[in-house]
Amino acid sequence: MEYLSNSGTKELETERLFLRKFKESDALDIYVNWASDKDSAKYNAWSVHPHLEVTKEYLSEWIESYKNNDYYHWAIVHKEKEEVIGSISVSNINRRKKYCEVGYTIAKKMWNLGIATEVLIRVIKYLTEEAGFETIRALHDVRNEASGRVMKKAGMTYVKNKTLFLLSRNHLIMRCCVYEYKRQTQALGKQKWQ
Ligand SMILES: CC(C)(COP(=O)(O)OP(=O)(O)OC[C@H]1O[C@@H](n2cnc3c(N)ncnc32)[C@H](O)[C@@H]1OP(=O)(O)O)[C@@H](O)C(=O)NCCC(=O)NCCS
Repeated sequence: MEYLSNSGTKELETERLFLRKFKESDALDIYVNWASDKDSAKYNAWSVHPHLEVTKEYLSEWIESYKNNDYYHWAIVHKEKEEVIGSISVSNINRRKKYCEVGYTIAKKMWNLGIATEVLIRVIKYLTEEAGFETIRALHDVRNEASGRVMKKAGMTYVKNKTLFLLSRNHLIMRCCVYEYKRQTQALGKQKWQ
């Protein structure tokens, strides 16, 4: 039986981006680029950070979590700008089912340039081909059509709608579309013997 690899937040690269672990020095980029922006938080489980100190507290927790080898949370670094312009992370891991969910945020000044799609494609490839996941899901608020578009462009398929009750946002009710990517085990199996 094949297991999850627990390979964690390994450094990854795409044409325009580096994906790496967060560092303490990223606090200001995170705060300025998305954590303080109400449009970025609008359709998400997290709330706007009222000041930089809040971002620093979250950042410390994330950095501490890298001690766990099944913690997947990348800073998205723009190669040319040398700036952290977003994040992508994994949640709700089910080891037995080899299942996880992915969520992402990109700085508003970089929206509609294909960044989220570029990142999601790379992370799905890593999670399925190296980390051992078989099913990856992502959820977006029904009103957040841009995120649904990203999921489709990354090869995910619409599964169903689902209602979430967000304790983290004063029991906010969030109606979501659920998308899924399934690892093609047969195709991978074949490649092994070629
Ligand atoms: C959703 C988000 C991640 C998209 O990031 P991005 O880097 O702009 O995404 P991409 O450029 O790869 O793709 C965006 C697509 O949505 C489309 N789009 C943008 N606004 C749209 C809208 N209001 N309605 C429908 N489609 C829209 C774009 O045209 C583009 O599609 P195209 O390439 O076919 O033209 C970004 O807006 C974001 O970080 N938002 C705040 C956090 C968030 O909502 N995260 C997702 C949680 S599920």
